[in-house]
Amino acid sequence: MAKARLGVLISGRGSNMAALLYAARVSDCPYEIALVAANDPDAPGLMLAAAEGIATFGQSHKGMKRAEFDAIIDRELRAAGCTHVALAGYMRLLSPEFVEGWANRMVNIHPSLLPLYKGLHTHERAIEAGDSHGGCSVHLVTAELDDGPVLGQARVAILPGESTDSLAARVLIAEHQLYPRVVADWIRSGTKSTLDEVRDRALALPEAREKTSHGSQGFHVEGGKFFAYFTVNHHGDGMTALLVKASGVEEQAMLIERDPDLYFRPAYLGPSGWIGIRLDQGEVDWTLVEDWLNRSWRMAAPKRLTKLMDLADQF
Ligand code: GRF
Repeated sequence: MAKARLGVLISGRGSNMAALLYAARVSDCPYEIALVAANDPDAPGLMLAAAEGIATFGQSHKGMKRAEFDAIIDRELRAAGCTHVALAGYMRLLSPEFVEGWANRMVNIHPSLLPLYKGLHTHERAIEAGDSHGGCSVHLVTAELDDGPVLGQARVAILPGESTDSLAARVLIAEHQLYPRVVADWIRSGTKSTLDEVRDRALALPEAREKTSHGSQGFHVEGGKFFAYFTVNHHGDGMTALLVKASGVEEQAMLIERDPDLYFRPAYLGPSGWIGIRLDQGEVDWTLVEDWLNRSWRMAAPKRLTKLMDLADQF
């Protein structure tokens, strides 16, 4: 299966970014780092990423409106074909538009055991409170600061007489273990569940079968033609999508014009009238997906089966 493409946003040192980067070098890692971007062109992490052959982007946010700056970062992430985003010490509040655009596809690492100690000075606050443990959390990013669903945590004991710096240093070791692991599990489960949703619907159609075709999951009528393909980052296009057969290139062009965020002309199958439907733009309209699977199945199925379906539709 093609790897997810992770964009990492940093503001400084970038040690968590480095942990993600080196984890991605292990062959079974489900993601690769597609871009490291920073809101400070001199962020040390950018230099490290560039030295490791990763694409980088650095621009200061100073003097710009939040939404305006975020739109630039968003454009860079999409141009690099990113499918997911990891915030790693990115010291910027994000605009609602940006968060919405990456809903369910953006995570953050925070140096506390959330929901405890959102915001800054987490270690200091844990020590002052007399907690037995500090730690770190990876969570999905939502509009509220450090508030999205927690995907994973690691606890770190607070030693007697512990200083903020010594605790921070140990929590950072835990962060470097936690972040790559949680991101990998999250990406694996996300890809699987969208495919499962498609599979359930495709295989519910009469005589539908599943077969891998050119690295994508394909669905065909037994002994006959394909009616759908599920693709993830096909040839590095950065998209998770369903490909189905439209009535022809005219309908294809019309659909894309009407809703360019949802529909696209797929490579290879485009000229024969197939249409791509994106499944990575937030909430998926599964009723629409079902309708398309039905239509496409009808075009691929032999008459004997479609006649039966027509009969069934009359009741
Ligand atoms: C980490 O402690 C992380 O939890 C917090 O910012 C710090 C970033 O450190 N969000 P680094 O740049 O990854 O070294």
